[in-house]
Amino acid sequence: MFSLLRSATAFLIATASLVQGYADPGACSGACWGHDPSVIQRSSDNLYFKFNTGSGIQIATASSLSGPWTNQGYALASGSKISVTGNTGTDLWVRSKYPPHAPDVHKVGDLYYMYYAVSTSGSQDSAIGLATSSTMEVGSWTDLGATGIASSSSKPYNAIDPNLIAVGSNYYLNFGSFWHDIYQAPMSSDAKTVASSSVNIEYNSTGTRPSEGSYMFYYGDYYYLLWSSGICCGYDTSKPATGAEYKVMMCRSTSATGGFVDQSGTACTSNGGTVLLASHGTTYGPGGQGVFTDSSKGPVLYYHYADTNVGLGDGSYLFGWNVLGWSNGWPTV
Ligand SMILES: *[C@@H]1O[C@H](CO)[C@@H](O)[C@H](O)[C@H]1NC(C)=O
Repeated sequence: MFSLLRSATAFLIATASLVQGYADPGACSGACWGHDPSVIQRSSDNLYFKFNTGSGIQIATASSLSGPWTNQGYALASGSKISVTGNTGTDLWVRSKYPPHAPDVHKVGDLYYMYYAVSTSGSQDSAIGLATSSTMEVGSWTDLGATGIASSSSKPYNAIDPNLIAVGSNYYLNFGSFWHDIYQAPMSSDAKTVASSSVNIEYNSTGTRPSEGSYMFYYGDYYYLLWSSGICCGYDTSKPATGAEYKVMMCRSTSATGGFVDQSGTACTSNGGTVLLASHGTTYGPGGQGVFTDSSKGPVLYYHYADTNVGLGDGSYLFGWNVLGWSNGWPTV
């Protein structure tokens, strides 16, 4: 009986891991809507801040990653001061028109830096801006405007979805969405403006070249490059073919500036990439991800996803997170 039970249990565990493959998103209570989230803990008190895309960048806070999250308001309620040709009617990317989106928040020196994107959806008329704050609270953000990273139809990239990585005292800003996919710009020593021209670090030449929302982090011996591959949105009105929805891909390199390969050694610039997290169970289209080092949990992956029991519309997306596991030097969920 005992050994029968034990082998039955072993069988169930093996079957579960074959069928499931991924851990479910961590618990969330309170303001759990998510879209292209950025998460960071304030160094003074470990308070969690969660920033979401859209409407001037929503700020929510919580004393625990699982909540309860409380919406506080908006970081850039009146939009960005970046002016871009083609944005007719006003020189501002106003909240009601083309609101700042895709926030990426990091501590740089004594200040919190929030990189954001402004764009007309689906076009290459885009730019990456920067706002700074000493506390991250609503009302504390100062918009510095353009970083100098911008795009129009003459560029190979679309200058949205910014992500900063510090390498020693150097800063690099990763960005990109479709067209020729993910690029990296060397930044000035204060990380506020672009220093030299951008290089391509990831390219998927197939189909619609659907790579965006990159995020790079350092752990152990490697720089890990994550990105979202596939269709991000509108699942309720036009459900993608199976597997064409968002999923989180990864490559790694010993350098932050190039040489990224997947688990089989294929270059990230030549269609390489290993799946880190894809749809499973009731979790659909996970993406818009990032990684931060939690003060007690270590490296945590966060993302947005649709729960098929809740709703597929963009307004139903939820904030997901998982403590990263590790296997042979690669993160796992
Ligand atoms: C590349 O894009 C195709 C769709 O054209 C997708 O099926 C595939 O998973 C992507 N590969 C990577 C490595 O992102």
